[in-house]
Amino acid sequence: MNKSYALVTGATAGIGLDIAKELAKKGHNIILTARREDRLKDISAQLIEDFDIHCDYVAADLSDINAPETIYRFCSDRQYSVEILVNNAGYSINKKFHETPEDEEEKFLRVLGISVISLTKKFIPSMLEKQSGKIMIVSSLASFAPPSSGWGALYGPVKTFVNRFGDAININYRSKGITSTNVCPGFTVTEFHTASGMQDAMDKVPAFMKKDSQSVAVGAVNALMQGKSVWVPGLLNKLLAFICNVLPASLVIRMSSNLAGGRYE
Ligand SMILES: NC(=O)c1ccc[n+]([C@@H]2O[C@H](COP(=O)([O-])OP(=O)(O)OC[C@H]3O[C@@H](n4cnc5c(N)ncnc54)[C@H](OP(=O)(O)O)[C@@H]3O)[C@@H](O)[C@H]2O)c1
Repeated sequence: MNKSYALVTGATAGIGLDIAKELAKKGHNIILTARREDRLKDISAQLIEDFDIHCDYVAADLSDINAPETIYRFCSDRQYSVEILVNNAGYSINKKFHETPEDEEEKFLRVLGISVISLTKKFIPSMLEKQSGKIMIVSSLASFAPPSSGWGALYGPVKTFVNRFGDAININYRSKGITSTNVCPGFTVTEFHTASGMQDAMDKVPAFMKKDSQSVAVGAVNALMQGKSVWVPGLLNKLLAFICNVLPASLVIRMSSNLAGGRYE
């Protein structure tokens, strides 16, 4: 039995689920993780049936400081060698900054930021031994944009942070056979907006700005395999990323408010 695996966080829904399917389709064994164990069990059985791969799962809440160690132990106890690490789990806080309890923000930063570092730190030594490994960080187009003023004040900043972390991994380890790919989607139809209590805002976004999670996953896995350092899905999002990188923030804020209101009021 081939014991090399792709580990996907946030694999019970949306982009993570479709990335797991895409990797399984390419013949990779998969380890799924997220909080909802019933979904993990069903998805695991389906991937095994559909793609004739080995799949296993471990339920873990990444807001818990011990979760990365639990996930790492689960893999090492079973001698699963993680050659692909997909850091995808995420959500947003739908509250104003001054109304958000600090412990809620700490949990949020753990899921979207610290767990990404922690899992990478735990799995990179075995990648170094093999001189081969691929890491994906599912970031966001928001990582390039000015942080929003109301809800989700920390979302853009933590995504910018993980982009820089991915860049640091590339600078330190690309020459040793390990690459990191920042995947930066724009609006994608998943459970994200409902789970984060933001479905109303998502409903106001024009359809031409939304992508489906399957096409995002296919492109993300291709970018990962090619060892790209950054990938933005779709021409429009690429243009927006470019605009965010070259235009003054004040102009980006005005344009963004016209296209998808609520972000900067
Ligand atoms: N959808 C968009 O418009 C969009 C745009 C840009 C970037 N992104 C990014 O894409 C990534 C995936 O989001 P998505 O849109 O696919 O959202 P989604 O459909 O809501 O999926 C989120 C996944 O993260 C898991 N998750 C959430 N909190 C977790 C926790 N505390 N511990 C462990 N797992 C947790 C969820 O599983 P459980 O609930 O089972 O734990 C689920 O599998 C996120 O990092 C998000 O920031 C999304």
